[in-house]
Amino acid sequence: MRRAVYRRARCEDEGRLYEIRRRSVLELAPPEMPVAEAQAWARRLTPAGMEQKLRELEVWVAELEGMAVGWGAIRGDRLEGLYVSTEFAGQGVGGGLLDRLEGLMRERGLLSVHLEASSNAGGFYLRRGYRVSGLPTPRGAWPMVKEHPS
Ligand SMILES: CC(C)(COP(=O)(O)OP(=O)(O)OC[C@H]1O[C@@H](n2cnc3c(N)ncnc32)[C@H](O)[C@@H]1OP(=O)(O)O)[C@@H](O)C(=O)NCCC(=O)NCCS
Repeated sequence: MRRAVYRRARCEDEGRLYEIRRRSVLELAPPEMPVAEAQAWARRLTPAGMEQKLRELEVWVAELEGMAVGWGAIRGDRLEGLYVSTEFAGQGVGGGLLDRLEGLMRERGLLSVHLEASSNAGGFYLRRGYRVSGLPTPRGAWPMVKEHPS
């Protein structure tokens, strides 16, 4: 596992973070997710939408040797997105970023973390202590929760 550095995202990260998300969805979600579904998911975020996320969410970047290789976003006790650069998938970047974001929430006194797992990523979250907390959304994402150990 490579050791990433975590930092808050800046406005100038917009293009890189947009591209990390787009490619990760198109290239990592299949084959667990049908290609057409991944394409529709990738299209849901525009560059303007990415700019809005940077303004409205708390976005954190994982860097390896000064290069952004993944990002995750939180709002309150919700994880609002987690994406890893395809070239660095399977090297612990996503798990490390998730640990970091969970840690921030725990430090803030939040008792649990909520998210909606896309169909391809359910197993990734289940292996990290999340459980399904409701029925799937109309887009097929699974509501999940993880309670912090007290
Ligand atoms: C889900 C995602 C964030 C995981 O990021 P990651 O950096 O690959 O995650 P990690 O390396 O920490 O863990 C990946 C898992 O795949 C395994 N793996 C091993 N080799 C791998 C490879 N070559 N490629 C991908 N995964 C591999 C890892 O061992 C690990 O298994 P585990 O879950 O049992 O621990 C990433 O795949 C991604 O961006 N997917 C597309 C977007 C997405 O689905 N986001 C989540 C939306 S809710």
